[in-house]
Amino acid sequence: MSPPKIAPESAVMRTVGWRDYALLDSGNGRKLERYGPYTVVRPEPQCLWTPRLPASAWDGADAVFDPTDEEDAGRWRFKGPHKETWPLGWGDVRFHGRFTAFRHLAFFPEQAANWGFLGEAVRTARAAGGAEPPRVLNLFGYTGVASLVMAAAGAAVTHVDASKKAVAWARENAELSGLADRPIRWIVEDAKKYVAREARRGSKYDGIILDPPKYGRGPDGQVWRLFEDLPELAALCCELLSENAKFLVLNAYAERISGAALAGLLAEKLSDRGGHIGWGELALMEERGDRAIGMSFYARWTP
Ligand SMILES: C[S@@+](CC[C@H](N)C(=O)[O-])C[C@H]1O[C@@H](n2cnc3c(N)ncnc32)[C@H](O)[C@@H]1O
Repeated sequence: MSPPKIAPESAVMRTVGWRDYALLDSGNGRKLERYGPYTVVRPEPQCLWTPRLPASAWDGADAVFDPTDEEDAGRWRFKGPHKETWPLGWGDVRFHGRFTAFRHLAFFPEQAANWGFLGEAVRTARAAGGAEPPRVLNLFGYTGVASLVMAAAGAAVTHVDASKKAVAWARENAELSGLADRPIRWIVEDAKKYVAREARRGSKYDGIILDPPKYGRGPDGQVWRLFEDLPELAALCCELLSENAKFLVLNAYAERISGAALAGLLAEKLSDRGGHIGWGELALMEERGDRAIGMSFYARWTP
């Protein structure tokens, strides 16, 4: 078969807010968001413009993240009492918000654009397929929202993450969503090690999503470095795609990556699969107006 066709232009997958999330305003290197009942201020150096809301909207925020260095570390400062966890939702899926030490709230709202695609892709695969649910793999799955969206849509899901704590939180989210009895395998393992083993076994998946960090560690101290390790991992993921596979979604947040680079990598590793590769950015849209914050890059293969 011919190589996949890479889209000639990038596409921005925009996430507009929903009941439990909004990007209220941004500017002066920060963003003001709402996560359910809490308004939150976090650093966002790329917001080079001026906020539109009055200073009082920002000063009244329930929580402000003060960074301590260039990386993601820092401290939360709270206006008043707050809960450790609180329930949030997207579509049929429920998950906990938490003020984590890494400046985020235990999920990534811009991923809603991917969740929409994944849910739809699984429903379509279900409708087209036989009695067996589509088998999907979520690597670097963190707190599991993508896994739960796919499970709710009828997939048999394998969720892999190196962090025991992240997988425990993902399982809590499955309980909260009423999806604990669905066919989801929760695996605490190094992503590369898991995928290599699956490739040796000849396992196949009808869809794969992976969102590798720039740097990470497997449970046994295995070092993950995006630029060094992604080519091999992408090649193994391509090997795992079933004959009738419906998607491979690759997402990355690293500053020096781009959607075009991710698309080039997938095109090479899927050179005998045909199909199409879309690529671009995931962006959060301000609640009022047309300002967007680019958050991450993606490439997406579909047959
Ligand atoms: C950027 S987060 C992924 C976010 C997730 N896709 C989501 O939308 O919620 C990175 C995740 O990769 C995991 N991780 C880091 N190194 C890993 C490795 N070597 N193998 C598996 N998971 C790893 C971390 O524990 C963390 O949960």
